[in-house]
Amino acid sequence: MSQKSANAPLLAVRGEIVHFVADPHERGAAACEHFPDGLLVVADGVVQRCGPAAELLAALPSTARVVDHRGKLILPGFVDTHVHYAQTGIVASFGEQLSKWLEKFAWPAEARLKNPTVAAAEAEFFCDELLRNGTTTAMTFATAHPVSVDAIFAAAQARRMRLIAGKVLMDSDCPDDLRDASAAEGDAQTRAAIEKWHSHDRLAYAVTPRFALTSSPEQLCLAGRLFHEIPGLYLQSHLAEQRDETVLAAQRFPEARDYFDIYRRAELVAPRALYAHCLWIDDEDRRAFADAGAAMAFCPTSNLFLGSGLFDLAAAQRHGVRVGLGTDVGAGTSFSLLRTLAEAYKALRLNGQTLGAEEGFYLATLGGARALYLDEYVGNFAVGREADFVVLDPLATPLLAHRIARAETLSERLFALMMLGDERCVVATHVLGEPARPPA
Ligand code: GUN
Ligand code: ZN
Repeated sequence: MSQKSANAPLLAVRGEIVHFVADPHERGAAACEHFPDGLLVVADGVVQRCGPAAELLAALPSTARVVDHRGKLILPGFVDTHVHYAQTGIVASFGEQLSKWLEKFAWPAEARLKNPTVAAAEAEFFCDELLRNGTTTAMTFATAHPVSVDAIFAAAQARRMRLIAGKVLMDSDCPDDLRDASAAEGDAQTRAAIEKWHSHDRLAYAVTPRFALTSSPEQLCLAGRLFHEIPGLYLQSHLAEQRDETVLAAQRFPEARDYFDIYRRAELVAPRALYAHCLWIDDEDRRAFADAGAAMAFCPTSNLFLGSGLFDLAAAQRHGVRVGLGTDVGAGTSFSLLRTLAEAYKALRLNGQTLGAEEGFYLATLGGARALYLDEYVGNFAVGREADFVVLDPLATPLLAHRIARAETLSERLFALMMLGDERCVVATHVLGEPARPPA
């Protein structure tokens, strides 16, 4: 992995800079910092200054390397809080609801990753696809196979990305080739992977029980114990995605108040725990989520694709729950957080809610970083943050250019970008200041 020397020349990137210092839902316009002609100054991979170009250029040493992106938007790299790298190859598989979709598409795709060569190829394609879409931080499921964990961490490490991943734990109601031989074996494999990868470079490990329907109570218990045992570990799972699944989970665990309570009883609800979907839950669950500091991943393309239901963002915000956006590929249909925002807007409209552009881009950047407790490292351009950023062309397509020519405010332009934009808008993605490129 290439490391910059401590005395490398400064990098200064000029363009229209937009980033968030707070949640626009709470702080309104003050949450957004906008420099129409801005400069982002990067030293040794971290943000040294961010502000108006006229002011900062004057103070820049002559040795600085200035990259001119005027006419383009510069935003913090996007954060995808929920995705399955091993399902990349079955994205857009036709016509099933969750349990059938898992059996027919997801599980066979995941079974292929027992082969380390397949796992490495999938992991590399996935990381490059994230970067091509402007995503620099992600939390992903691997598969049940330890080699799939090695493959994704190695691919992210080679690209210097921030990545959280974990071996899928399943010891019941799943195919033999994905089932842990026992809860103890799943735990032992998880511990070995933590030892190998957790807290190395920009990587962190997530204990990953797939969901309550594929883990025994013993496995959930072991996962809870491990999650609290080692500092900085994450926990990722699915909660209340579909109505049938939610009913079934309550039947399987009759002692629990509801689906969410299954996880709470296993001590799986705490800071750095992130649950995808959270559609069929109530306000008592949301209150407990917020009190515990756990986070939800809002995955609109997946929720619409599988017909799962509508995320209640207003209720999550009312209760002060941390929320990030997830693409949830392969049930989700795009790696683009821009496309995900467009679907988020539409899903919320179906629920009588809305999503302003500022709130949308907050969720895709600082909101996601906060959901993952990574906001001291990434998510905005505060001094000292890791310089992960995306350069977006707001005129990338004829339709965007046509629409934006009529936009009068930043809000309107951002809204057009979020509704009409996709990976065609991504001019460049930078990781720790440097342009992302496949490793040599
Ligand atoms: N619930 C349990 N596993 C999965 C998965 O792989 N994808 C989705 N969308 N939901 C799940
Ligand atoms: Zn998922």
